[in-house]
Amino acid sequence: MVTSSAPGKVYLFGEHAVVYGEPAVPCAIEKRARVTAREIDEGLRVHVDDLTLDGYTVEYTGEDDGHPDLEADESLVRAGVGYINEAVAQARAVADRPDAGFEIVVESDIPLGAGLGSSAAVVVAAIDAASRELGVELTPEEIADRAYQVEYAVQDGQASRADTFCSAMGGAVRVEGDDCRRIGGVGNLPFVIGYDGGAGDTGELVAGVRQLREEYDFAADTVGAIGDIVREGESVLGTDDYDSMGELLNFNHGLLAALGVSSRSLDAMVWAAREGGAAGAKLTGAGGGGCIVALDETDGALTALRYTPGCEDAFRAELDTDGVRRE
Ligand code: PMV
Repeated sequence: MVTSSAPGKVYLFGEHAVVYGEPAVPCAIEKRARVTAREIDEGLRVHVDDLTLDGYTVEYTGEDDGHPDLEADESLVRAGVGYINEAVAQARAVADRPDAGFEIVVESDIPLGAGLGSSAAVVVAAIDAASRELGVELTPEEIADRAYQVEYAVQDGQASRADTFCSAMGGAVRVEGDDCRRIGGVGNLPFVIGYDGGAGDTGELVAGVRQLREEYDFAADTVGAIGDIVREGESVLGTDDYDSMGELLNFNHGLLAALGVSSRSLDAMVWAAREGGAAGAKLTGAGGGGCIVALDETDGALTALRYTPGCEDAFRAELDTDGVRRE
């Protein structure tokens, strides 16, 4: 039996624009998904326990497309099972054991579909745990690449390498198309996260931005301007000039809102964090609902968020320099 874990992430800059080849800077945070893999005679038995689901168990043998008995919200369960099926398929492929059976237990601190990279963390940890259980140790880079293949397959091609690379490697990373690298010398960043309890539909939100970008030159320019913010942000990263970084976060949020991916609750949390004294705040991830990230060294933003209607949870999240690891 092997347990591995992998971190979630926030986007400091660049979500959505990264889909069109602009750079993005996601940062791993100390909120993890843990996956335990145990080899069994045949089939796949999955138990999931996380913040957003009460916990469910899915069991089936033989073909992966068996019809499990579903107790929790069906679409969330189907999505979760899809990621785990594909992650297990990757482990079976690397070990050349196509018929290996698995019992998989998932525990996650990361809210589902809320812009904190929950699915990437589960996939990365699952590939590591299941392949180690079959006696194969992959490098974090190999795991990142295989996890990207999983997200690409499950999300019908609507995936960048950002989430999976960040979760596998840890720390702050830079992703531009297929060029993924870790950014050295980034100290801790004073992240504060606000969560509205909801989730956005990533595929729908990405499609909406694509349509705007095709329809209007100024929407395409907006996507390009997000890339400019990322390039500017890279020069501040590694310093403790949070005021400049915060200004760029604010600008990035404004452009994401212009592209139609913010929401009333995300905007309310962004403004609460700013008025509470954050250096800057923006939505993180696909948007539509879910989480915002603010930079604040004081307790002001955290307190303000806790009093904001529509904000279900607010917490600090340290930058996690560890990527995937065996527990
Ligand atoms: O909400 P998340 O964590 O799945 O992030 C989506 C980020 C996008 O840039 C909108 C899409 C992607 O795959 O990069």
